[in-house]
Amino acid sequence: MIVLGVHCAFSIFNHEPGEAISINGKIVACCEEERYIRNKEAWGKLPNSSIRAALKLAKINFDQINLIVSTGITAKNLTETLKKYFNENFGCCPKIILVHHQLGHVATAFYSSGFTEATCISLDGFGDGQSGLIAEASLKNGIKKIEYVQKDNSFGNFYTMVTEFLGYTTGDEYKVMGLAAYGKNNLDFSKVIKINSKYWKFNNSYYKGRKSTYLDTYSEKFRKEFKNYRRKPNEKINYFHKNFATSAQAMANRGLVKIFKYAKNLSKFKGKVCFAGGVALNCTAVKEILYSKLFDEIYIPPNPSDRGLPMGCAYLGALHLKQVPKKLTSPFLGSKYSDITIKKELQNNNSKFYKTGNPSKIAANLLAKGKIIGWFQGRSEIGARALGNRSILADPRKKNMKKILNAKIKYREEFRPFAPSVLEDDAEIYFKILGQKIPFMNCTVDAQLRYSNQIASAVHIDGTSRVHTVSKKFNPKFYRLIKYFKKITGVPVIINTSFNLKGQPIVETPRDALMTFYGSGLDFLILGSFVVLKKN
Ligand SMILES: [Fe+2]
Repeated sequence: MIVLGVHCAFSIFNHEPGEAISINGKIVACCEEERYIRNKEAWGKLPNSSIRAALKLAKINFDQINLIVSTGITAKNLTETLKKYFNENFGCCPKIILVHHQLGHVATAFYSSGFTEATCISLDGFGDGQSGLIAEASLKNGIKKIEYVQKDNSFGNFYTMVTEFLGYTTGDEYKVMGLAAYGKNNLDFSKVIKINSKYWKFNNSYYKGRKSTYLDTYSEKFRKEFKNYRRKPNEKINYFHKNFATSAQAMANRGLVKIFKYAKNLSKFKGKVCFAGGVALNCTAVKEILYSKLFDEIYIPPNPSDRGLPMGCAYLGALHLKQVPKKLTSPFLGSKYSDITIKKELQNNNSKFYKTGNPSKIAANLLAKGKIIGWFQGRSEIGARALGNRSILADPRKKNMKKILNAKIKYREEFRPFAPSVLEDDAEIYFKILGQKIPFMNCTVDAQLRYSNQIASAVHIDGTSRVHTVSKKFNPKFYRLIKYFKKITGVPVIINTSFNLKGQPIVETPRDALMTFYGSGLDFLILGSFVVLKKN
């Protein structure tokens, strides 16, 4: 039985459209629209291109789909709109069921985790009239709602307000996280959001909501509370801005640990926890949850924000059809491009290239020589993080590598850190991961002091790294690359950042990769079996 899980951005206030296909409970394809239309987060766009890509990957026609599942259960006339959309664009429309947005997040996390039972938490700005859900889930009895986090008590909205006050836009929350490492926790946010005996209480008089994509969501009262020190976009960052980010992040750390404690008390499953929703991208707060040891194991899917909703919907559809949702065995569920396609693209672009039988070895040698490379292999990874198939790679031992990458390659803010990929077997030596595997790069941890100088460019100013642990099973080609690098240098760590430039989605096609290669300071590009050089 085939299910199409879908997230359509029918309104300009919806983002990250895409879809996932499950066949007999197994997710076989998951594609994000932004990659195909080259528009980051694809606000207000329909998933036309990504649906076609997923059908191709699943080797099915649209009329073979048995069921379509979407979030948006509280939206007006959504079923009619979806029917019209599918009939007009794909020629037919099977049965549609709608589920709650927060249930979609929880399903994405729980069913992809492979856990038999877990406490589940979703937190975001809001979706379907709520800003989060606490639930307990088991494979036997499904997902049981414990309670919602109300829309007017949204931690996601709080963090977005902070992001906008610092001159960034919705979706730039990760920049605040990066900046938070530079300041002092000396500003009081307790009037805006107060930690209470439950978890927190958000004061909505500081929030005016999203009225337009241009207007800010914080109120005049919020602006006055922080003495109009709002940073204008492109304005130089000062001490106040740094302290503002640090203090807000400290609030996020406290708030999230508190709600995890609260959820554990309410749930009968005390050992494992699954976390999703946009707030789960706050890997600094996730570190606090991990280090609190509240749960033995914490699982966050590779796509916890709205871009993961189609996967949760596909799982819920499989359940509806009496099938067992299968654990996510790989995050590499996007499109792939054969060597024949790549070679044709290289010839059409008059590129200078040669073929290799061992791209991992070539890449490791180049990295060890200080070269920065674009790395494009196999099926693309789902979610916002590069997991070794669409990555820009560099040597973390070079102290100025962070500066070079920010200035010449990614063209982004100088304070932004770079993440390391480390061989799973060596991860504990370099990072305090407390025995956890972090294959989806969704948790920041402390770098081990003894080795942090050795990998200086992959350690943030506060001594932390958003680590990515790599096993042979997870990604053999990428694992081999790091293994070769270790053989040459003695260091089992490389810098891994997403293959894109500032403000762009991750590259999708070989042509996107070439455009990024020629439009940046990248030294080499390894596309499948081909090494691409710059002509000079
Ligand atoms: Fe959401």
